[in-house]
Amino acid sequence: MNTEIKNDNLISIGGKTRITGLLGYPVEHTKSPLIHNTLAAFFGDDLAYIPFPVSPDDLEAAVKGAHALGILGLNVTVPHKSNVIPFLSEIDPLAGQVGAVNTLVRTVSGFKGYNTDLPGLSIAMRRAGFEIQGKNVLILGAGGAARAAAFMCAGEKPAKLLIANRSVDKAERIVEDIRNSGIMATENKDRDRDQDQETVISAVSLSDLYSVMSDDRFLAVQCTSVGLAPHDKDCVIDPGSDEGKAIFDSFDGGVDLIYKPAETVFLSEISKRGGKTMNGLAMLLYQGVIAYELFTGRWNGEISADEEVLNRIFSKL
Ligand code: ATR
Repeated sequence: MNTEIKNDNLISIGGKTRITGLLGYPVEHTKSPLIHNTLAAFFGDDLAYIPFPVSPDDLEAAVKGAHALGILGLNVTVPHKSNVIPFLSEIDPLAGQVGAVNTLVRTVSGFKGYNTDLPGLSIAMRRAGFEIQGKNVLILGAGGAARAAAFMCAGEKPAKLLIANRSVDKAERIVEDIRNSGIMATENKDRDRDQDQETVISAVSLSDLYSVMSDDRFLAVQCTSVGLAPHDKDCVIDPGSDEGKAIFDSFDGGVDLIYKPAETVFLSEISKRGGKTMNGLAMLLYQGVIAYELFTGRWNGEISADEEVLNRIFSKL
């Protein structure tokens, strides 16, 4: 009999081990176990993070079953981020306004939903030196990722927030939801910016973007799926056209939520004009770290895991 242990990289699981995990469909390519299981080892928490492939038809049963099984917390990814909301016992008000959750935290009566993509992007941008307050911000896209980015930016009081999407109606809906949310009035009230200076927020069709940009300089946040591997050569703004060139010329910096490839055409066009750029990998890290700290009761608005462990995880993502 062959008694060789093929994988000696065992997490120590015992009678007190708590389970956290991911609900998605599919989940095979997730990097979340690396983030969560490394943090558990760092903090010395007796936790194991497991991906669960759950089809849309099984979502309600999965959430109820997870609670019955004593699962401590769950991340939620595509395609469940909005559809899971009816099965929660509570929702964080901001996540409710965004209409999407990616983190479920166990409570006595069920799971409470949060959206850590917003603070994850905010911390990633702040740590990389991107300023939003008082700047003009262009959000490209109006899907789930763009909604989270737009709400986050709106809360940081930019001078202008322009949302451009191929289907303009979706961008208009985000603008309306942000206006109705009160986020621009309630966030950052303790900062020293003139409170009378309201953010000018508007939606535009991607094909009309050039005509509305005037001479303003923008920080661009690319939230569409265009340019994602294997379609690495694609770019939501055509860098070869005269209009596209002029649009890129007006960017001071850019963030692309895509991290595969590490440098999209979108980012390379900004970078070669001398603009500061960042891909989506740091946001991926921080949304996971914040979720971990929510699961374990550590989250207080700032990350408590130290730089060394964050760098170690980041280098393996
Ligand atoms: P996610 O959850 O990642 O945001 P999504 O909700 O499917 O994914 O949104 C994808 C975004 O990429 C949308 O803004 C989509 O534009 P439409 O709303 O007009 O569909 C945008 N997108 C996808 N393919 C595109 C393309 N070829 N050109 C321009 N925008 C595109």
